[in-house]
Amino acid sequence: CGIVAYVGGRTAYPILIKGLQRLEYRGYDSAGIALLNGETHVYKCKGKVKDLEMLSKDQDISGTIGMGHTRWATHGEPNDVNAHPHQSMNGKFFVVHNGIIENYSHLRKELKSRGYQFKSETDTEVLANLIENIYLEQKVTAELAVRLALTRVVGAYGLVITCEDEPGQLIAARKGSPLVVGVGDNEYFLASDATPIVEYTDQVIYLNDEEVAVIRQDSLELKNLGNDSKTPDIKKISLSIDHIDKGDYEHFMLKEIHEQPVTIQDTFRGRISMDESKIFLGGILDVMPQLIKARRIIIVACGTSWHAGLVGEYLFEQYARIPVEVEYASEFRYRDPILEKDDLVIAISQSGETADTLAAIRKVRETDATILGICNVAGSSISRETDAGVYTHAGIEIGVASTKAFTSQITVLTMMALLLGSKRQALSASEYKHLIKELIQVPKKIEEILKEEHKIAEIAAVYKDVSNALYMGRGLLFPVALEGALKLKEISYIHAEGYPAAEMKHGPIALIDENMPVLALAANDESYEKMVSNIQEVKARKGKVIAVVTKGDKIIRKMADHIIEIPDCHEAVSPLLAVIPLQILSYHIALMRGCNVDQPRNLAKSVTVE
Ligand code: G6P
Repeated sequence: CGIVAYVGGRTAYPILIKGLQRLEYRGYDSAGIALLNGETHVYKCKGKVKDLEMLSKDQDISGTIGMGHTRWATHGEPNDVNAHPHQSMNGKFFVVHNGIIENYSHLRKELKSRGYQFKSETDTEVLANLIENIYLEQKVTAELAVRLALTRVVGAYGLVITCEDEPGQLIAARKGSPLVVGVGDNEYFLASDATPIVEYTDQVIYLNDEEVAVIRQDSLELKNLGNDSKTPDIKKISLSIDHIDKGDYEHFMLKEIHEQPVTIQDTFRGRISMDESKIFLGGILDVMPQLIKARRIIIVACGTSWHAGLVGEYLFEQYARIPVEVEYASEFRYRDPILEKDDLVIAISQSGETADTLAAIRKVRETDATILGICNVAGSSISRETDAGVYTHAGIEIGVASTKAFTSQITVLTMMALLLGSKRQALSASEYKHLIKELIQVPKKIEEILKEEHKIAEIAAVYKDVSNALYMGRGLLFPVALEGALKLKEISYIHAEGYPAAEMKHGPIALIDENMPVLALAANDESYEKMVSNIQEVKARKGKVIAVVTKGDKIIRKMADHIIEIPDCHEAVSPLLAVIPLQILSYHIALMRGCNVDQPRNLAKSVTVE
């Protein structure tokens, strides 16, 4: 979900609406705002921010203080009543909330026994009533009521709260769900990430877990739940408006696909020596001794970042000779994992806020293992809670289906694997140098692939109406097959699955008939011959084959129904090239099916609930 709030001298409404539009990628089931102007006006509805704008068009939208919310439903279906802001029963408090209150049903029961009635099915309304109940019964300030209520809450929250009796004031609190305060000139902004704020100020404060901020036009007070004052740490952010604009592109996803030659360069910029013979990763310098002697690396991540982790597994094993396990963060956190001192954990997360990944590293914190982060969002929770790490520097990613963040994550993993390979003497100086050169050439090669977009769009037109698709690859291209399938299902709602090509025989091949497209990834590597056989097996069963091959390929060209060529490259960097056509193919298929590419149904960009 996304939160935005404002207090200052300007009219809040346009700031809130614009802010919600910027945050819409975080959730878009319903949207709402509360504007305070002597009294509080709440407008909220199921649907997108534009529906909210329609709803509030002819209403009173005055007021210089207010808050807004765009929702990704957890408790209760997306409808007008369940949309935020929520009001407490006696009308004193208004609340917008990200996260989940896990003990909400217990609290709800307790409040019901005290006469509280509920309009919605949300955990947020429970919180609003809990705060109000404490406020009225204990006759304390709104801020104290909030802090007392939060000590009773189990779960995650990013919150903005107003109290009708204490006008001119916003109370914000966070645990698990990010909140950023923008510090302006006699005005403050609050948001779940910096995108709604950058237009007005580059000075921000990231709230820490269990911190509460009491904000008025001319003051900001920061404290913990126990009322100890905290000194705000104001940081300058470098995000600019260009980064959050679609520019000439129809969709953010398309813009982000096309940005990859630049974003990959941004990832390795300043990290490779001038003579292209060495890699420097300043963020992991301090933990280099642990990395060099690491017994095992465990990678934890979710979604696309997990796929990047799988690519990392192949790279670390092959080039640095370190055993690797890749774990779904959501599974890892609930197991009793065996971790020892020389184990190293790497969390990969674009947002740096994914609840399961964060919980996984908190679990590791209880052990002696060193934790590294590979995050895209600077200052994010995961980047702050790891011992060291490497930022991907891909710039803000808005499209829900991750593209440029994925290739930047792989770029970081490649650099780490090569650096460690060299330090651990698993790679010779000449191999090291050769592989660095291969990496440096990737952006130019991606540009070549992007020039062929129209050809990939033609293939998309042929398959846009299918109901299923299979993706297969071997070695480093197996995770790319998984990622290709994920991209397709995320944005076009076509059922797709990725497989290691040899596993096709153990089940998926039963699905193949003349209606089944199979996307085969067959780069110029050791497994090429085997991929040729796998493609033959599909063709023998009348499946349709779309093959991603190295430029100039002659053998598969004769067998496949369609081929997409990628420039010749070393196997180590082949995932970075092979994934590009799959991103483009998914994009065009989704577009032709009339899907909302940037805001696919039921998904959210940043999953801050478990
Ligand atoms: C969501 C997003 C995916 C992303 C995953 C993990 O599902 O839609 O694009 O890969 O979360 O997010 P993270 O920010 O941790 O990489």
